[in-house]
Amino acid sequence: MAQRGPAAPRRSAGLVSDRWRPPSKAPRSKATASRPGSSRRGPTASSPPPDAHGVAARRVALEALLRIDQEGGYANLVLPGVLARSGLDERDRAFVTELVYGTTRMQRACDWLVDRFVMRDLDAPTRAILRLGAYQLVFLETPPHAAVSATVGVAPPRTRGLVNAVLRRVSEAARVWPDEATRLSYPDWILERLTQDLGAERAVAALEAMDERAASVERDDGYHQDPASQWVAAEVCAEPGERVLDLCAGPGGKATLMAGSGALVVATDSRPVRSGLVAENVRRLGLDNVAVLTADGARSPFAPASFDRVLVDAPCSGLGSLRRRADARWRIEPTDVDDLTGLQRSLLHEAATLVRPGGTLVYSVCTFTDAETVGIDEWLSATHPEFEAVMPPGEPWQPHGRGALLLPQPADSVSGATDGMFLLRLVRAASTR
Ligand SMILES: C[S@@+](CC[C@H](N)C(=O)[O-])C[C@H]1O[C@@H](n2cnc3c(N)ncnc32)[C@H](O)[C@@H]1O
Repeated sequence: MAQRGPAAPRRSAGLVSDRWRPPSKAPRSKATASRPGSSRRGPTASSPPPDAHGVAARRVALEALLRIDQEGGYANLVLPGVLARSGLDERDRAFVTELVYGTTRMQRACDWLVDRFVMRDLDAPTRAILRLGAYQLVFLETPPHAAVSATVGVAPPRTRGLVNAVLRRVSEAARVWPDEATRLSYPDWILERLTQDLGAERAVAALEAMDERAASVERDDGYHQDPASQWVAAEVCAEPGERVLDLCAGPGGKATLMAGSGALVVATDSRPVRSGLVAENVRRLGLDNVAVLTADGARSPFAPASFDRVLVDAPCSGLGSLRRRADARWRIEPTDVDDLTGLQRSLLHEAATLVRPGGTLVYSVCTFTDAETVGIDEWLSATHPEFEAVMPPGEPWQPHGRGALLLPQPADSVSGATDGMFLLRLVRAASTR
C-alpha cells in the first residue's frame, strides 16, 4: 500500500493572508512528491529579493518557536504575547499563527527533512529557522523562491549560506519517509499506543487528522468550543431547575453550555487559575445560574447525593485534542497516562457519592487510550455497581466498552474533523444498595 504523504493543513478558517494561501490540493503521496527536475523548481541565483512583510512575519514566528522550544513555553500562551508586540496586521498574524502551530506540530517530520542535508550540530536558532523553512516548503507548499528567500532573510549573516543551501535541497529532494511516526510527526510511543488501542487504520487516520489545523467553532453565545465538547455537555441532559455539578470545570466551556438548560450549575476546579477562568466566562456570558468554586474534586466539599447530575470531564492525556495543542505531543510522557488514571478513579469515586439515587453520572476525556477509557469503565463497573450504563450516543460516536468513542477524523465525506473524545453515561440505581 502506498504510504500517503504528510497531512497538510486544509481549511482556511479565516486565516488566509494576502501573501499566503493554504494549499489547494490534497497532500502529495510519497510517489508523487516533488523530485529534482520536476516542475516545482527550487530558488535560483536570480530569485527575487524577499518581501519585507514575509521576512517580518517569519521573524515573529521564529521568536515564538524559540520560546516554545528553548524556554518550554506553551504555544497557546507564547503566541498571543508575541503577536501583540509584533505590529503585524491581522492577515500576517494569521500567517504567523499557522507557521508556529504547524511547524511545532510537524517538528519531527521537518527535522527529518532537514537533517538529510546537514553534516554538523545545529544551534537552536538555526534548527528553528530550518524547521520553519521545511514546514513552508513541504506542508504549506509555499513556492520555493518565496519560502527560501523570506526564511533566509531571518537568519543571521553567518548562517544564511547554510540555511539557503539546506532549504534549496529540501525543496528539490524526494520525500520518502523512514517510518510512519516520522511522517506523521509524533513520538513513537503515541503511534504505538494508539495502534495497540485503536488498530492501525483508525490510529493513523486519527493522527493524520490531528496534524491539521483546528477550525474555530463559535457557539450562539459567542463562546468558542469544539463540537465534540458541545456534544458531551449535551449528553449530560441537564433539565431546568436541576442541580448539576461540573467537577472539573475550567475554563468553563461545558459548565456555561449546560447553564443554558436552566439548571443550577455548580462548577469546581482544583486550580484557582482555572476556576478563575470559569468565573470570567460566566461573567462575560451574563449567566446568573452558575456557582464557581475552587475545590479538589477528589475531596469535594458537598454532601453525599446532593446533585441530580455530575459531570467528570477529567484531566487526561489529551491525545484526542492534539490539533488544538500543537506542542502537547512533545510534552506528554507514556507514564502520564498511568498517573492520570489514578486521578480519574479518585474523581469518579468522589463523584459517585455526590449523585442522588436515580441521578446521572457522566465521565468524559479527550483521549483514546484504553487505560483512560474502557479501563476506567471496567474499574467503575466493578467498584460502583450501583451505576448502570445508559445507551451511548450513536454516529459519529462509536461504541467503546459501555461508553462511546469519538475519533477526530471526519466520520464521512461531509462531516468535519472534531476533537477526539470518550464518553460514558451512567444512572445511579433509584434505591441505594
Ligand atoms: C479537561 S479539563 C476540563 C474542561 C472543562 N470541563 C471545559 O469544558 O471547559 C480538566 C480540568 O480538570 C482540572 N483538575 C485537575 N485535577 C483536578 C482535581 N483534583 N479536582 C478538580 N479539578 C481538577 C484541571 O485544572 C482542568 O481544568
